[in-house]
Amino acid sequence: MPDIVVALKNITKRFPGVTANNAINFELHGGEIHTLLGENGAGKTTLMNILDGIYRPDGGEIYIDGKRADIHNPADAMAKGIGMIHQHFMLVDTLTVLENVVLGLKSQKLYVNKKAVAGKIRTISDRYSLGIDPYTRIWQLSVGEQQRVEIIKTLFKGARILILDEPTAVLTPQEVRTSFDIYRQMIHEGKSIIFISHKLNEVMEISDRITVLRHGEVIGTVKRAETSKGELANMMVGREILFRLKRKPLKRKKKILRAENVRALDDKGLPALNGVTFDVYGGEIFGLAGVSGNGQKILSQVITGLRKVTSGNIFIEDINVTNASAKKITGQGTNYVPPDRLKVGLVPNLSTMDNAILRRYNRPPISNNYFINYREAAEYTEALIKKYDIKVPRKEAPVKLLSGGNMQKLILAREISENPKLLVVVHPTRGLDVGATELIRKELLKERDNGVAVLLISEDLDEIFMISDRIGVIYEGQILGIVNIEDAEIKRIGLLMAGLKDKSTA
Ligand SMILES: Nc1ncnc2c1ncn2[C@@H]1O[C@H](COP(=O)(O)OP(=O)(O)O)[C@@H](O)[C@H]1O
Ligand SMILES: [Mg+2]
Repeated sequence: MPDIVVALKNITKRFPGVTANNAINFELHGGEIHTLLGENGAGKTTLMNILDGIYRPDGGEIYIDGKRADIHNPADAMAKGIGMIHQHFMLVDTLTVLENVVLGLKSQKLYVNKKAVAGKIRTISDRYSLGIDPYTRIWQLSVGEQQRVEIIKTLFKGARILILDEPTAVLTPQEVRTSFDIYRQMIHEGKSIIFISHKLNEVMEISDRITVLRHGEVIGTVKRAETSKGELANMMVGREILFRLKRKPLKRKKKILRAENVRALDDKGLPALNGVTFDVYGGEIFGLAGVSGNGQKILSQVITGLRKVTSGNIFIEDINVTNASAKKITGQGTNYVPPDRLKVGLVPNLSTMDNAILRRYNRPPISNNYFINYREAAEYTEALIKKYDIKVPRKEAPVKLLSGGNMQKLILAREISENPKLLVVVHPTRGLDVGATELIRKELLKERDNGVAVLLISEDLDEIFMISDRIGVIYEGQILGIVNIEDAEIKRIGLLMAGLKDKSTA
């Protein structure tokens, strides 16, 4: 029998409107790499934040080495040998590695001898081949190196159980290789690891066992040697029944959007789109599925003029709009419902009315070149509010006071009212209640029926299946496959989302 170093029993954690963890059972064996696998929002980070003492569970128990443990904060967790490496590093850029480690110790009120600390950092760095010098400043290090500094911080404090929350998400392929060597070395030195990821190739390479979470519940725990990528993909995204909203037959019109071999970089300058090619026609909803972080956000930005491509072309009808300004692209008939309601979609401190007229305040009838006609503006806003059933406290109140669903309805109403040729919508119903969700999906179908080309980017597979006419799957910045909804099988889409193009590799 393996020794069980961590046992989570019936852990439940609720946030307003969502049960992030529902009666979760999980065991970590000594000396294993145990992966938590699941789509975005499955509840992985929440569960680990509970083990690390950042959240208190609403129910359930934690056992460390067979003993009931009460973990109130990360220092408690560390005292029991548990250290977590978060997705966002907690390092001070301007300080050295040594100073960052010391900072962590001081917060624990430990006596610090800097020279001794530097020596120990070197020892740890050598033992695990981390290649980190204590006197380098954080800003001089690559993201991968910074991650290794975080690992040093936890090992320094004596962690024997390491939780790594999607460590590979920020790494280059070469850095992933190095980090896997480091994990194996840590296991060799007697540590145990909980590794979080949603990339099946990695998971199959590094794990001893894998626990799959979906919608806050454990779907199952399997041994790596006894499973396959296909089975994991199915566990991760598999749904029993998918229903489709009633819609009129597809009446495809002419081609509106063409993306041709588009390449672009993310904010860190790493390749995010690696040759994306696809078309969207008037009168259809093209659903782009994919696990978060595979380039969908970058794609929506290059299509709407918010980010430059490094090569390739984008056409709206026959006009080349590659790297044109957002204003020009809007002028060509592209409207955008962004994923970030309050950052990109709305001006939070302006009123509902100001936000409603954002796209037409400078043209008749709302403007006569010099002045805004407030009566026209108010009437226009009233009409939108009524037509889309937007609940507004007062038209003059800042729009940030609206609920998420009502903000989203306002953005959609505003963008649809511009009579777009192409409507790009990203996560349109994320975080919304059932009523608002249904209304928004029906509006998107109406736009389709009116001949608009709709590009729906969503991580919600149910949503994609419910309203799309064609489904494309994006993986690591490439479209791996495009299928008509009639031929779309959830299992195949799941495999594509996991990066498996060829059925035989399943
Ligand atoms: N602090 C929080 N407040 C409210 N909801 C949260 C919070 N943290 C996570 N959630 C919600 O809990 C669910 C699980 O999230 P998370 O644990 O981050 O998933 P994962 O790490 O698997 O992507 C999601 O629906 C998320 O929106
Ligand atoms: Mg997470």
